[in-house]
Amino acid sequence: MAILVVGGAGYIGSHTAHALRRKGEEVIIYDNLSTGYSVLAEGFELVIGDISDSKKLAALLRRVDAVMHFAAHAYVGESVENPRKYFQNNLLGSLSLLNSVMDSRVRKFIFSSTCAVYGVPVKVPMTEDNPRLPVNPYGSSKLAFEFALEAYAKAYELRFVAFRYFNAAGADENGKIGEMHDPETHLIPAIFEAIKGKRPALQIFGDDYPTPDGTCIRDYIHVSDLAEAHVLGLDYLDSKDSVALNLGTGQGYSVKEVVSTIEKVVGLKVPSQMAPRRPGDPPSLVADPSRSEKLMNWKAKRSLEEIVSSAWKWAESRS
Ligand code: UFG
Repeated sequence: MAILVVGGAGYIGSHTAHALRRKGEEVIIYDNLSTGYSVLAEGFELVIGDISDSKKLAALLRRVDAVMHFAAHAYVGESVENPRKYFQNNLLGSLSLLNSVMDSRVRKFIFSSTCAVYGVPVKVPMTEDNPRLPVNPYGSSKLAFEFALEAYAKAYELRFVAFRYFNAAGADENGKIGEMHDPETHLIPAIFEAIKGKRPALQIFGDDYPTPDGTCIRDYIHVSDLAEAHVLGLDYLDSKDSVALNLGTGQGYSVKEVVSTIEKVVGLKVPSQMAPRRPGDPPSLVADPSRSEKLMNWKAKRSLEEIVSSAWKWAESRS
């Protein structure tokens, strides 16, 4: 099968491109390199273009059997300050891409959604039936596109999987690709920057949450586990109906637990200081991944320790 990996020069897209290749699939990466890096697409056919460039896409869509869509802006804080950017790209750009797909003969579509579509969960661990009530424009832009996918699937012969990621982290075990964000706001790379003296200390955003140690709990999932789920998602679409699926481990860790795991795995002290809560952070987000297990026979295999050691190896190789 040939797959167009849109946003394949980004973090999760590049890991998925590698997973697809390991499975023997043909991959074309399409990316405008606005937040992606050509180095992450090394070894693949890379076509530089925008998701709204329907002419460029039409030619490529003739060569593939399925589309995976990773191209998005994904900073929650930025989405609050600049919602226009988020709705422009994550909604209008994505719709333009989807319409290009509908104008081709491709009918299989895999979408990078997020647990941010749920907002503050009514119940943790969260199933896919949790109400979708996003609390920031990033989550709203992703949810709006989920609605479009649902309508298109009903009206046209589109089949999609919307994967709702929890906290993607870690790096491919081959050491060649990993997380590259600028600025880097995610917890694990932020902790590494504190260890390496690239920032004075890790700011722990709030220790007065209703959690056992007062810091926020998240479900950290290895990016290679996410990538493998996408490969299985394609098999799923061969025979089954469209679906939204959580991708998480089902196990939550607090910020303080992540810090102590990193100190243990890396063997270095993390300079840290308490800071006020970050606006928009729900206290606890943990997936119930049982629908993904049941429908795709998928389960996250890698532990938090493996996330940390692979991410550390990647960070060390770049400094
Ligand atoms: N945190 C700190 N200090 C930091 C960075 C993060 O204490 O320097 C804390 C955050 O407050 C949060 C946890 O670490 O409690 C994880 O934060 P991240 O920024 O790594 O990840 P988020 O949970 O904010 O974001 C993730 C995804 C988003 C998605 C969001 C849904 O990266 O794409 O979950 O809430 F939208």
